[in-house]
Amino acid sequence: MFEKLPNHVAIILDGNGRWAKERNLSRSKGHEEGFRNLKRLSKHVFKRGVKYLSVYAFSEENFKRSRDEVKFLMDLFVKGFKKDKTFFHKENIKVIFSGREDKLRKDVKQAMDEIVKLTANNNGGILNICLNYSGQREIVDATIKIINDIQNNKLNTEMITKELFSKYLYQDLPEIDFLIRTSGEYRLSNFMLWQNAYAEFYFPSIYFPDFNEKAFDEALLEYQKRDRRYGNIDYSK
Ligand code: IPE
Ligand code: IPE
Ligand code: MG
Repeated sequence: MFEKLPNHVAIILDGNGRWAKERNLSRSKGHEEGFRNLKRLSKHVFKRGVKYLSVYAFSEENFKRSRDEVKFLMDLFVKGFKKDKTFFHKENIKVIFSGREDKLRKDVKQAMDEIVKLTANNNGGILNICLNYSGQREIVDATIKIINDIQNNKLNTEMITKELFSKYLYQDLPEIDFLIRTSGEYRLSNFMLWQNAYAEFYFPSIYFPDFNEKAFDEALLEYQKRDRRYGNIDYSK
């Protein structure tokens, strides 16, 4: 159906709050709808043949929000991962996480561990959920791990290439081909800075809870039109 398929799609799930506000609902309701949509959408994305889907669910900076909103989101993650782990498992989706675990509540970490373990051997697509994630911190953390390995004589500086560096990131993933940010904001907000180096960007104005299967297919249509040159020129054209 689609001639060019991105191998790795990333989505900044934005606009839950505004989606709810437009309907006179609480921000929490928007987050619930967002989570529900993520389930449906990830199934569809992998059905289309995409191999990797990274989603920005909670940034390190999101801890600046009110205690109530942070608590609601963390509770939602615990409930969602516990309840829906069988859904992802049945769909043969492997769930992994990127981000720092240090500031996360124990029950959140536990729910994350459970879904990761249950789905570890699935091969129908990899869903990378970025939770308490910061792109700049990921690069700093990788650098620290590399320095430690140098100090322990496991590495020397000549061995450090782009390929090696990427293996020290939270997850060893291929580069992002297609980045989508819903809700009409045109920024990265610290999302996967390394992996987005040559991604195609797409900014639909729709809020995430409404970004359904049809909206994703429209995004894929847009991707067909992109000419990925990587700095080169096709002189035959
Ligand atoms: C995205 O929706 C979800 C998270 C950041 C957790 P927002 O909560 O940012 O929604 P808006 O941007 O306020 O509409
Ligand atoms: C980015 O959205 C983080 C997530 C979607 C999880 P925000 O809504 O937090 O980003 P800003 O504040 O608009 O940059
Ligand atoms: Mg937002």
